[in-house]
Amino acid sequence: MGLERKLRIVATSDMHIESERNGLKAVEHATEISQLIADVLVVIGDIGTPKEDVENVLKELGKFPGEKLYVLGNHDLINLENSKVPFHIDELNELLNKYDFHLLDNKPKVIEKIGFVGNIGWYNGDFFDFVKKNVKIKNGDPNNWVSALRKAGQILKNEERYKGKLDPILFSNLGFFYQNFKKLRKELRAYQKNDDVDYIVASTHYLPTEKLIAPEKFEDFNYKGTYLGSNAIGKLYTKFPKLVLGLCGHDHSPIDDRRVFISDKPIYNVTAEKSKPYHIFDIMSDGSVKNQPTNNKKN
Ligand SMILES: [Fe+2]
Ligand SMILES: [Fe+2]
Repeated sequence: MGLERKLRIVATSDMHIESERNGLKAVEHATEISQLIADVLVVIGDIGTPKEDVENVLKELGKFPGEKLYVLGNHDLINLENSKVPFHIDELNELLNKYDFHLLDNKPKVIEKIGFVGNIGWYNGDFFDFVKKNVKIKNGDPNNWVSALRKAGQILKNEERYKGKLDPILFSNLGFFYQNFKKLRKELRAYQKNDDVDYIVASTHYLPTEKLIAPEKFEDFNYKGTYLGSNAIGKLYTKFPKLVLGLCGHDHSPIDDRRVFISDKPIYNVTAEKSKPYHIFDIMSDGSVKNQPTNNKKN
């Protein structure tokens, strides 16, 4: 009994090799990550583009000796060839298989009695509040939601503060959000009931709660929320007692300590930064989570 460590997880996201963001050198950090001693590596999307460079990062990360999990990010979907989501998944899946990554968007995975679930989490549900106020719809009907969101897009694109920022076409991705949300819910339910699973770790590329958004961004939350995530995912987490940790990325300017709680569940943004290219979490035998300091020489 006691607090013996059950599993050590290294988590990172948003390495964005195309931008070498804030001096972040994706390949160098990938090499550093691959040498860490841990059981599981979770990469929560947005390695970047083009595909050849993504492969260079995956090749390095692939040297990590433990289990390797991947969750798709929006750049993984958007910046590869064509623009059809299912093809991107196939295309990336091939690449991920080559370097021994398991794609959580396809299937969850149990490692040492910890159930790992996750997917990109796109598309945002928080814009629904705007829609509810401004467009007449029947609650809960996905078809109505889709047309209502399109209408909301038309309304918002004429607003000065959204000019040039809002792409009404994004409003058509609601179906994709539902697809991901339902898949996550199904997997959480299955692991909650499964005796071979003691605890659950959930990873989504998008934020599962607006609490993770820095206050200065909040004014435009309806707009930012479109791109940042959905409270619906965080609310879902609260229904599963086995869920002990939520991870996400996508927001490149995270709040200072990167962690919030949804009821008693810690949720971390693990977006890579020069000073913190990855995060280490220990899942203890009692289900508590310890966020270990990142021992980065470059600090
Ligand atoms: Fe990103
Ligand atoms: Fe992203």
